[in-house]
Amino acid sequence: MRVSAVSLAAVCLPVALALPQHSHTYDQPSGQGSDLSSTRSPWSRENNNNNGIHENYKFQGNKYANANNGNNPAAQQVAAQRAAAVKDAFQTAWTGYYQYAFPNDELLPVNNSFSNSRNGWGASAIDALTTATVMQIPEIVNEILAYVPNIDFSKSNQNEPVSLFETTIRYMGGLLAGYDLLKGPLDQLPNNTGNVDACLTQAKTLADHLSFAFSSPSGIPHNNLFFNDSSFDNSTTNGLATIGTLVLEWTRLSDLTGDPSYARLSQRAESYLLNPQPATSEPFPGLVGTNVNISNGMFTDAEGGWSGGDDSFYEYLLKMYVYDSSRFGHYLDRWILAADSTIAHLTSHPSSRPDLTFVAEYSGTNLLFRSGHLTCFDGGNFLLGGSVLNRTDYVDFGLALVNGCHDTYNSTLTGIGPETFSWNTTNLPANQTALYEAAGFYITDSQYILRPEVIESFYYAYRVTGDAKYQDWAWGAFQAIVANTRVGSGFSEISDVNAVGGGTKKNFQDSFLFAEVLKYSHLIHTQDDVWQVNHNGTNEFVFNTEAHPFKVAGPPV
Ligand SMILES: *[C@@H]1O[C@H](CO)[C@@H](O)[C@H](O)[C@H]1NC(C)=O
Ligand SMILES: *[C@@H]1O[C@H](CO)[C@@H](O)[C@H](O)[C@H]1NC(C)=O
Ligand SMILES: *[C@@H]1O[C@H](CO)[C@@H](O)[C@H](O)[C@H]1NC(C)=O
Ligand SMILES: *[C@@H]1O[C@H](CO)[C@@H](O)[C@H](O)[C@H]1NC(C)=O
Ligand SMILES: *[C@@H]1O[C@H](CO)[C@@H](O)[C@H](O)[C@H]1NC(C)=O
Ligand SMILES: *[C@@H]1O[C@H](CO)[C@@H](O)[C@H](O)[C@H]1NC(C)=O
Ligand SMILES: *[C@@H]1O[C@H](CO)[C@@H](O)[C@H](O)[C@H]1NC(C)=O
Ligand SMILES: *[C@@H]1O[C@H](CO)[C@@H](O)[C@H](O)[C@H]1NC(C)=O
Ligand SMILES: *[C@@H]1O[C@H](CO)[C@@H](O)[C@H](O)[C@H]1NC(C)=O
Ligand SMILES: *[C@@H]1O[C@H](CO)[C@@H](O)[C@H](O)[C@H]1NC(C)=O
Repeated sequence: MRVSAVSLAAVCLPVALALPQHSHTYDQPSGQGSDLSSTRSPWSRENNNNNGIHENYKFQGNKYANANNGNNPAAQQVAAQRAAAVKDAFQTAWTGYYQYAFPNDELLPVNNSFSNSRNGWGASAIDALTTATVMQIPEIVNEILAYVPNIDFSKSNQNEPVSLFETTIRYMGGLLAGYDLLKGPLDQLPNNTGNVDACLTQAKTLADHLSFAFSSPSGIPHNNLFFNDSSFDNSTTNGLATIGTLVLEWTRLSDLTGDPSYARLSQRAESYLLNPQPATSEPFPGLVGTNVNISNGMFTDAEGGWSGGDDSFYEYLLKMYVYDSSRFGHYLDRWILAADSTIAHLTSHPSSRPDLTFVAEYSGTNLLFRSGHLTCFDGGNFLLGGSVLNRTDYVDFGLALVNGCHDTYNSTLTGIGPETFSWNTTNLPANQTALYEAAGFYITDSQYILRPEVIESFYYAYRVTGDAKYQDWAWGAFQAIVANTRVGSGFSEISDVNAVGGGTKKNFQDSFLFAEVLKYSHLIHTQDDVWQVNHNGTNEFVFNTEAHPFKVAGPPV
């Protein structure tokens, strides 16, 4: 998943305290650095660098990349053993959650307790559904399915605000994708088809409870909703990602139910993002600001990038085209503008490691040399675009970004990358000079909260190139995660990726461990299947930002 830092900051304080695992802030003031010209260089100048593409695994255009270990039986056996180990980890996490937390939202693994940070509708269970499905574990699939009809989406636990964005990507996403898989290629798993039908009816019920969010004059939704009195928090703006990461789920719901109203709500909101006003909110073609005025749909700033708060808006521009190329060509046009501007203007190489490539953030046309774990989905998104469009430049750029994010993993003591990092030498702390010199970044937030984005991008890199190196990287990351986060009845957030053992265990296991980390870690080692990215050269499924695979509606691209 991608996160909106912005809308969370707008939530009232007690709520923000209840959701610490989702908020992240940047402590660096904005503005242009004096070191800008020395480290920023056009991507084209670096195209002759060795950015990690193995000679034997050139991108072959929009064709089958043979992401099946070259049909080599020995390599396939290694991959099968790794996939089995990931499946074991999933079973362990599920057993702990089911015993100590179900049907609450999350397991607190250190003391076998639970929490409800996602309104108490069983977030981990719904987020686990599509992973148990593609792992083909019928017992867990049926345990979750048996629960689906019992969820009461009319009330939020303790009247806490409901995030339109989080609820859409996790609950609606999990239910709709579960329905697509269990009515489709994995329809042998359910022992009760009525419970599969309930996935769709419950997704519709949920949308019916959420849809008052869009009742503003502009149609830009409020993000933080109170179900008990149909009110909103007092925020007058909503964020780019929280507005722009609804359209895939709400359009899928309309396509499955035949009721166009859900698609219409999400697409009307999206229209303001596709046609941004005022012009100054688009400092580079296709790259826009972050906050949008709920009353009139105008952007209120020109700051952004591919990081938390903005990220999945860009992700979904491309994924809408993958979902239905016949209906969403305009979304693709906007993605291409953003992608080309990113390569031309946001490409950044740390001064100590000019071989590495990161994407900078921006404030107007000033660049900010900072990034984070969330942002590391970007390599995977460029790879999906390059594969679908047969654009070698996007594939090469995507692989360079994947390489940079891998560097954030294999440069720390745990082998896991930090929540946020920087390569702005103005603020380089004295005790991180050695890290910066060796690795090209320094740590600005040292936590690891079980996020998926780096492994997610390894997955796309493998599916698009077929290069087994990315399987090895994903396996290394998975092993590091198990070694440092496994505790008690599950897996825990850790405080410090650059301390032996990961610092302290923070006693929280977010639902996206089930939905994303363990799914991508598994799929990268399993055989080609219809739900895989770049399945035999096209995409019959497209993954939402929480890694729930939706069946595409148009001819697969
Ligand atoms: C992809 O583009 C290359 C040129 O960059 C071309 O040679 C190849 O035929 C294209 N493949 C497909 C499937 O369109
Ligand atoms: C478990 O630990 C959390 C803090 O991580 C604490 O808030 C909670 O009260 C504990 N639960 C029990 C049952 O001890
Ligand atoms: C279906 O699976 C659930 C969960 O394992 C189980 O409780 C139920 O008895 C099963 N029903 C049938 C008809 O096998
Ligand atoms: C709804 O819940 C919120 C948050 O707990 C509370 O402040 C508000 O008073 C409640 N409204 C009603 C009508 O109960
Ligand atoms: C919104 O503002 C009003 C007036 O200041 C205040 O009474 C109310 O509690 C606020 N609502 C929320 C959800 O913060
Ligand atoms: C949003 O637009 C309205 C006019 O429709 C204006 O009164 C308000 O100040 C704007 N709010 C922000 C935060 O820009
Ligand atoms: C680097 O940090 C300084 C101090 O916070 C800031 O003024 C400058 O804009 C930053 N530059 C970049 C390129 O991030
Ligand atoms: C990091 O990965 C690179 C390969 O990309 C490898 O050469 C290097 O040894 C690794 N470093 C560590 C510390 O694992
Ligand atoms: C580095 O120094 C800062 C203070 O500037 C301190 O807070 C931090 O704990 C130090 N980190 C390490 C790894 O020693
Ligand atoms: C892969 O696609 C080609 C056409 O592009 C088709 O002939 C072939 O049967 C497909 N293979 C599988 C395994 O689906």
